[in-house]
Amino acid sequence: MKNIILTGDRPSGKLHIGHYVGSLKRRVELQNSGKFDKIYIMIADAQALTDNFDNPDKVRANITEVALDYMACGIDPAKSTIFVQSHIAELTELTFYYMNLVTLARLERNPTVKAELKQKNFELSIPMGFLTYPVSQTADITAFKANTVPVGEDQLPMLEQAREIVRSFNGLYGETLVEPKAVLPENQACLRLPGTDGMAKMSKSLGNCIYLSDSADEIKRKVMGMYTDPNHIKVTDPGNTKDNPTFIYLEAFSTDEHFQKYLPEYANLDELKAHYERGGLGDMKVKKFLNAVMQEILEPIRLRREELAKDIPAVWDMLYKGSEEARAVAAQTLSEVKKAMKINYFEGR
Ligand code: TRP
Repeated sequence: MKNIILTGDRPSGKLHIGHYVGSLKRRVELQNSGKFDKIYIMIADAQALTDNFDNPDKVRANITEVALDYMACGIDPAKSTIFVQSHIAELTELTFYYMNLVTLARLERNPTVKAELKQKNFELSIPMGFLTYPVSQTADITAFKANTVPVGEDQLPMLEQAREIVRSFNGLYGETLVEPKAVLPENQACLRLPGTDGMAKMSKSLGNCIYLSDSADEIKRKVMGMYTDPNHIKVTDPGNTKDNPTFIYLEAFSTDEHFQKYLPEYANLDELKAHYERGGLGDMKVKKFLNAVMQEILEPIRLRREELAKDIPAVWDMLYKGSEEARAVAAQTLSEVKKAMKINYFEGR
């Protein structure tokens, strides 16, 4: 069996450092590992429209932003096929056949869908497109015969549902589709990076994100203004590092080399944490170090992004090429699906 990756993001905003440690960084490592036969990275504009149908301009604008974020992080169009979901009509057709294999009750039980419905106040009038997006996500994954899907933790219920649909399709119509598995970051802190305000998740509407495109000044302002331990009032007070976003960020981003370079009086994060917990270490010092770390990581990404943003038509050329290539692959899978279902009535005429 071939090793194939498919993953993607909704273009509903620019990507932030939660996306970076939660998934993008891993994708780049997998891309450069040489262990994969094909890598598809999809900009899920059709999925973004399921909850932004009243604002297609926003989705359109963010396709460019997400493509720039991808390339700035090291996703290389020469190694990975980057494409736009809505260009692949075959995905919609697959979705239509897969919808027969899922019940309404099962979709409503999907924890990610459930949480989003609540967050968006859709409860009373749920758009059908939104409710069925896990089915369309199954089409995205299976169309490319992907066995590996690097995603954030919030996507696990989607993968579970995809596996169920694959099993049910293969059981009914014969072995055709590949069962995918999720690949999560290994570092716990990267699984769910909190917002700078200490809220569980970074979200644009909460204004608690650090974006990959933020300027050096913006990064500094956001880091220096971060929420820490509210009970750590005096420097001498013992502090909590567990629910403290500055320490969670250090867990996700800092290395021993960063300590050598910017804070050599500590060998590593464990020593810094121990000092904070016993008291005598001020938040300012922690934040200054975190700022140095974040600047070092984000500067090359920002500079690459600025360079790429000088030629937007080239970005769209790349997306068109990727989308045409992806479409041919999805068309092949669709024809296998129709054959398995014996609805390929006109094949060979
Ligand atoms: N649901 C993902 C997100 O919210 C985007 C996405 C769409 C996706 N289809 C996918 C991710 C297939 C992985 C595989 O960002």
